[in-house]
Amino acid sequence: MMGLTKTSACSVVLLLVVAIDTGFSNPLKSKESWGYVDVREGAHMFWWLYYADSPSASYSQLPLVMWLQGGPGGSGCGFGNFEEIGPLDRDLEPRKNSWVQYSSVLFVDNPVGTGFSYTDSDEAFATDVATVASDMLVLLKQFFNKEEQFQSVPFYIFSESYGGKMAAAISLELTKAVEKGTLKCNFAGVALGDSWISPLDSVMTWGPYLYSTSLLDDYGLREVSSAAEAVKQAVDQGQYLKATELWSVTESVVEQVSGGVCLLSVVPPTALLMRHHISPLHRQSLSQLMNGPIRKKLGIIPQNVTWGGQAEAVFSSMSGDFMKPVVDVVDQLLDAGVNVTVYNGQLDLIVDTMGQEQWVKQLKWVGLQSFSQMKWTALDDPAFPGVTGAFYKTYKNFSFYWILKAGHMIPSDQGPMALQMLKMITQQD
Ligand SMILES: *[C@@H]1O[C@H](CO)[C@@H](O)[C@H](O)[C@H]1NC(C)=O
Ligand SMILES: *[C@@H]1O[C@H](CO)[C@@H](O)[C@H](O)[C@H]1NC(C)=O
Ligand SMILES: *[C@@H]1O[C@H](CO)[C@@H](O)[C@H](O)[C@H]1NC(C)=O
Repeated sequence: MMGLTKTSACSVVLLLVVAIDTGFSNPLKSKESWGYVDVREGAHMFWWLYYADSPSASYSQLPLVMWLQGGPGGSGCGFGNFEEIGPLDRDLEPRKNSWVQYSSVLFVDNPVGTGFSYTDSDEAFATDVATVASDMLVLLKQFFNKEEQFQSVPFYIFSESYGGKMAAAISLELTKAVEKGTLKCNFAGVALGDSWISPLDSVMTWGPYLYSTSLLDDYGLREVSSAAEAVKQAVDQGQYLKATELWSVTESVVEQVSGGVCLLSVVPPTALLMRHHISPLHRQSLSQLMNGPIRKKLGIIPQNVTWGGQAEAVFSSMSGDFMKPVVDVVDQLLDAGVNVTVYNGQLDLIVDTMGQEQWVKQLKWVGLQSFSQMKWTALDDPAFPGVTGAFYKTYKNFSFYWILKAGHMIPSDQGPMALQMLKMITQQD
């Protein structure tokens, strides 16, 4: 859901179509809690925690995962929760591949202004990732003080898209705070999913990726490459706001010359196609769900706060920061001994795997050469034993997962494989 400045057909399906006619006929068995933290003057951040619900272990024996959505401005409490990894799906039915089976899950609507988070004035929106990180540190401090029982459980940050850029910056600040003793938690690692770590490497590989998958002809490749080159020039000159505008232009060029390819998944995953064909009767959007039954259940959302799937004001406040790379932050994490995982969907275009490989090769990390020389290992798709669903490779503190037949939202495209990856990263398999 990151950075789709316009609403293409695929994003409409992914973001807006929610069928609910069951109400809360399947109430949750697991414990949950939620609340607001005032992270700055006039900036109120909403969080929602589900305690792990496993038949074989109590939540205190399982890890805690914080999930960060993209955008910036995409709501984890809405999208990540009901469309990807939460205990209930968009029909409010139990999700078969819910991550809550193996960890407690903390959703946070960040940066402030996203989802149910809100600000008292427009001046309070974050304008850079440093503010995003310091805001989150305030929230985490308060969270771990209030929920003391989580101070000792392994804490992981998982992320998607722009959430990855935020996760990297937050992880670095968190590591420093834990070292200084100003925040008590057992930080165990960060996982960067289809993440916006090096925006330029993503944009520069759009053409080659589409060309090699028969989605561009030579004419189209030239058009996309020249639009991407303009983005590169702006980035090279440090004109980041202009780079964001040109990035958006490049997206339009891609859509024009590729016959309207879906930026989130060049081949629509089966689930997406099926959603296209379901009768639109009795349909409610995710926004109707969040502003209707969910708001009522939560009971603490101020009257004047309306949930939106993608807060445009949050995105535009961050637009001068959007195209800046944070590869150096990943290097600093590795130097600090943090376990870092990169995972990416094979069919994702907006953050394609080629671009991820490209920035990984720019790391100054001492282990890079050994990592590059290693062979990857194939993983069975838990849904289809005997069929490869992913590859992975780990060297010291760094891992890479290549998730097959998944687009930008890996857990909603390949739920069983994503769950298997969660178990491996959190050392439960
Ligand atoms: C919403 O109302 C609260 C008081 O209930 C106020 O403090 C806040 O500034 C308002 N926010 C907006 C965005 O109008
Ligand atoms: C990082 O992962 C390794 C396994 O690859 C594990 O032994 C180590 O404890 C992890 N580090 C932290 C801080 O959890
Ligand atoms: C992780 O990185 C730290 C710092 O470079 C290093 O001391 C540690 O041995 C690494 N962990 C593993 C599992 O290699």
